[in-house]
Amino acid sequence: MSETGDSSSPVLQKIAEQDVTSTVAVAGHPLHAMTVHFPIAFVIATLGSDVFFWWSADPFWVRTGIWASGAAFIGGVAAGLIGTAELLLVPGIRARVASWTHAVAAMMLIALCGLNWGVRLADENLILPNGLLISMLAAVFTGFAGWHGGKLVFDHGVGLMISEKE
Ligand code: HEM
Repeated sequence: MSETGDSSSPVLQKIAEQDVTSTVAVAGHPLHAMTVHFPIAFVIATLGSDVFFWWSADPFWVRTGIWASGAAFIGGVAAGLIGTAELLLVPGIRARVASWTHAVAAMMLIALCGLNWGVRLADENLILPNGLLISMLAAVFTGFAGWHGGKLVFDHGVGLMISEKE
């Protein structure tokens, strides 16, 4: 059963009536969905760089880790700003507890991305073990935030834009 399926509750009925259509979109394509792939991919690329550096001690992986962690942070901030706009502007998104669960997990992820970038910019010797541990935690939070984001779309039908085209 879906989490919003209790149609007997007047509170849930009121929430279900509210609009959940994405507002930050270009030509019917929601921008949050387009941007979240970048932090997801770069967080995993940072973790990969750290593991390869640990395994090979090749400084090449220090450089890829610095670039990947910076891109993860910048991509996360960009996706987060768009997600925050959706959260605050769309009444049906704002009203759902699940939206706030995703937002909190995502903000913690973005903070970890910033920390991970800052740590290695400050001192490359901190990559092992501090950077690696932060990368592992960031990967866990990516899964957590992505899972809850997916639930918003697939369980709650949030952010969908149904085209009138055939
Ligand atoms: C301040 C941070 C964020 C807020 C407030 C936020 C909010 C939202 C909202 C309202 C949705 C529902 C769909 C929509 O309206 O576009 C959503 C979906 C989603 N979010 Fe976020 N988001 C944030 C950051 C992130 C980040 C950093 C990631 C990367 C892990 C992420 C991953 C997803 C995914 C995978 C979905 C489902 C697919 C989609 O529609 O894009 N979000 N988010």
